[in-house]
Amino acid sequence: MFNQLRGTLAPLPADAVATAYAPFGSSRMLPRPAYVDPAVYDWEQANIFAGWSCLGRSEKYAEPGTQTSIQTGAGGVLLVRGDDGVLRAFANVCRHRGHELVPCGVTVNKRSIVCPYHAWNYRLDGELRNAPGGFRDAEGFDKTEFPLAELGCVEWHGWVFVDPSGEGGSFTDHAAGLEQVVANYKPEDLVTVASHSYELETNWKVIIENYQECYHCPSIHPELCRVSPPQSGENLDPDGEWMGGWMDLDANATTMSLDGTSGGVAIPGLTDVEMRTVMYVVAFPNLLISLHPDYVMTHTLRPVAADRTFVECSWAFPREVAERPGFDPSYAVDFWDLTNRQDWAACESVQRGLTSPHAKPGPLAPEEDGVYQFVSRVGRAYAGLGRADDARPSMKSEDVVPAEPAAADDATV
Ligand code: FES
Ligand SMILES: [Fe+2]
Repeated sequence: MFNQLRGTLAPLPADAVATAYAPFGSSRMLPRPAYVDPAVYDWEQANIFAGWSCLGRSEKYAEPGTQTSIQTGAGGVLLVRGDDGVLRAFANVCRHRGHELVPCGVTVNKRSIVCPYHAWNYRLDGELRNAPGGFRDAEGFDKTEFPLAELGCVEWHGWVFVDPSGEGGSFTDHAAGLEQVVANYKPEDLVTVASHSYELETNWKVIIENYQECYHCPSIHPELCRVSPPQSGENLDPDGEWMGGWMDLDANATTMSLDGTSGGVAIPGLTDVEMRTVMYVVAFPNLLISLHPDYVMTHTLRPVAADRTFVECSWAFPREVAERPGFDPSYAVDFWDLTNRQDWAACESVQRGLTSPHAKPGPLAPEEDGVYQFVSRVGRAYAGLGRADDARPSMKSEDVVPAEPAAADDATV
């Protein structure tokens, strides 16, 4: 959560930060060091990324006994699926002398969690089962005093979120209002069929700022503009730590693909409006959810330096087609891989541009209100502030769901 450590100021000039959350229309982008200075990156890791953030689709951790370690802003996290089906997150540190329990980035499947150093052995729920050697008979040694440190962990509609600091507050508050945007797509029932990993030479915020506007679409996305009018749609005005908006599908398109046709089936139960739109959501700070009539695309960002970000992009489809022999997801994957790469080229160019000492924070166009939503919240977090209603842009709609689009009919995918 962006404001979890209120009062902790980012190492940036206060006046330049305040300009980023000035009212929409008079604001400017974040100051240049926010994108290039390792000290700001470290502050973000210790503040923004120590609260609720996404570790990807939870399907990857479905089997009981699965143990995966992931590096986060607040140290290593060990995700473990218990025999009881519950996914838990622990600090990836042994209660003996601190060895990592599972090497960073590795997944194993075992009936217990075994430290590789002196073989302390934990149950899948984190309780210490035994400590070998003389501990067995050691007077005063009480196993119950040494469980693994359990962290906040939530599975939400097929994604896993962790709160390593324990200061992220209630996840329900964090995602307030997002439920009604996402729930109808039932992403937890979809099956991931393809995923791509990208390593970008750019700051994580540049990627989200780019995702939050289609002002650039006529310039760099000719294929996208053929299936979704870049001026269409509106942004939402959410209560929780997220933001986003929708765009219409072109009258001749049933989904986002190179020719506008679908190679899959519609997600069951969508409304007419959901069948004619694509919803783009940023769940702070690092999950991008793109809800299509027939598939859900996920981008999970993992910043690794001020100028470097890993992005995993995955595509999930209704089980009915995902498990069909010979199902080909390329109509969606190829379209978005092309579009991703167009975006990544722009983002990396922005990052190179921002290395110039002559780079100064620019103004935002009216079409960039979504960028303002993101930038102003980051700016307020830098300033040790929470969200303020008076700093919010005037949205195009007060609705939290899209209005009936002009092209709405009973089209099917
Ligand atoms: S550090 Fe883990 S068993 Fe010793
Ligand atoms: Fe784009």
